[in-house]
Amino acid sequence: MTLIPAIPLADLAAAAAAGLHAAFGREATLTATAPGRVNLIGEHIDYCDGFVMPFALDRAVVIAAAANGSQEARIGSAAGDTATIPLDQPIEPGQPKWANYVRGVIRGFQDRGLTIPGFDAWVVSSVPIGAGLSSSAALECATATLLEGLTTTSLATRDKALLCQQAEHTFAGVPCGIMDQFASAFGQADRLVLIDCRTGEPTLVPFTDPGLTVLVANTNVHHELTDGGYAARRKNTEDGLAILGKPSWRDVTMADVEAAWDRLGGPVNRRARHVVGEIARTVAAARALEAGDIEALGPLMAASHDSLRADFEVSCPELDTMVEIARSIGRSGGVIGARMTGGGFGGSTVTLCDSGRAEAIAARLHADYLAATGITPEIFASRPSAGARLV
Ligand code: GLA
Repeated sequence: MTLIPAIPLADLAAAAAAGLHAAFGREATLTATAPGRVNLIGEHIDYCDGFVMPFALDRAVVIAAAANGSQEARIGSAAGDTATIPLDQPIEPGQPKWANYVRGVIRGFQDRGLTIPGFDAWVVSSVPIGAGLSSSAALECATATLLEGLTTTSLATRDKALLCQQAEHTFAGVPCGIMDQFASAFGQADRLVLIDCRTGEPTLVPFTDPGLTVLVANTNVHHELTDGGYAARRKNTEDGLAILGKPSWRDVTMADVEAAWDRLGGPVNRRARHVVGEIARTVAAARALEAGDIEALGPLMAASHDSLRADFEVSCPELDTMVEIARSIGRSGGVIGARMTGGGFGGSTVTLCDSGRAEAIAARLHADYLAATGITPEIFASRPSAGARLV
């Protein structure tokens, strides 16, 4: 079997509780979880007032915690050094770096005037790290959910997601949009999270057909959004909008971009073509889903990938290879559509396919990708799953 099964939530929670006990000698009194996400379509347009259509994965971060009666948080994980965070002063980024997502969220609670009691916590995760599947948003949203429990407050889901996005901006240095945190916070079983990033309104779109499977293929080429490529793309789009003189990308047409092509100059003109095209593709995909026309998603996903590769330049040879393999399997082999997903520069692809062929398609992706690149990929299937919550 090629497909990597999901670890049941109960097992992750038990592992987190065991880690807490082993590291700090405490029994868990609170356990929070939040999922990673995969994006079906709508890439690199959440920070352009666009539409995006991710869903929450059945892979998640789980944090088990207990009050420790002190004024500090001690947070451990098998993946890194334990962080000790003083809670009686405004928190700044520090070492170990992985804990900055946690620090940023604590800071968001402090900034809202909430006093966090000292606690010990242990983090486990089944979200692949650096794979474009929002392991960091999952950690942020799980932390925020834990802190809601510890402070006995309940933030509005939207506020919680925005607090987590802010943590990513100021404590991890990634000027991300709202997609990942919204997907992790608002996700629901059997629902896509269609987000209008201009209004900040999520709409839950049913995705229940058992005949459809979403395959996620992690190329295992590392993805690092802090190295400037992401911020540079975002800056390109801001420059483009300023040159076009429009208040929002939603007010820009393809004719506007073509008319201003030389004035925009390269690469900003190509970035602009991606943004306007991808907004239109995502709207078309949402309409097609609503109409039950799943086949329409194939060409839209293909055009999305090509645009991300050629115009937005956030793909890489390994992502292109994985998408090419899916394309070569084609509709007759059960593939409806495939594209890169997430921030890019490595990471994962998403392949929409017939459920009856999913296992065979995954086996082909695995074998052909390994043969072409020498890298072993990780492939799994996920249905849309529940968002951040206490367990
Ligand atoms: C990263 C960011 C998101 C989004 C995607 C690209 O995942 O965190 O906000 O911009 O890249 O669609």
